[in-house]
Amino acid sequence: MVNLDEVKILTLPKFLDVRGNLSVIEELKDIPFQIKREYWIYDVPGGEKRGGHAYKENREFIVALSGSFDVIIDNGNERKTYALNRSYYGLYVPQGLWREMENFSTNSLALVLASTGYDPADYIYDYQEFKR
Ligand code: TYD
Repeated sequence: MVNLDEVKILTLPKFLDVRGNLSVIEELKDIPFQIKREYWIYDVPGGEKRGGHAYKENREFIVALSGSFDVIIDNGNERKTYALNRSYYGLYVPQGLWREMENFSTNSLALVLASTGYDPADYIYDYQEFKR
């Protein structure tokens, strides 16, 4: 079972400027994996949930580029909620953890950096199977 201590909020470099701020992510420097894929979740209707699955291999880094949402991480034994609401930090989620996303604010934008290409066979959609 993956220890929830391995799930981490990572603060990104932030360049404050009167012209507006800038943050950056470099693979293997600001996050602990090479980026194979990027996707983003947007236009989430109020009250909707995303996720509800685990990955066998894929590791992810999730940033609220805009707005806010909650990421719920469950290792089969305990469950923690991480509120993301700033674009200069994100949540590192190792493989082998159950993940849900909810409480999306209006116009929220979730950026997800992933360590593997998309592979439906990497997903576990059944919570009981995940626990086993
Ligand atoms: P899904 O993984 O169910 O989204 P979430 O975990 O946020 O609930 O993906 C939704 C759809 O998008 C599904 O039909 C598969 C497709 N998809 C891809 O084709 N490539 C990808 O990299 C991802 C993440 C999803």
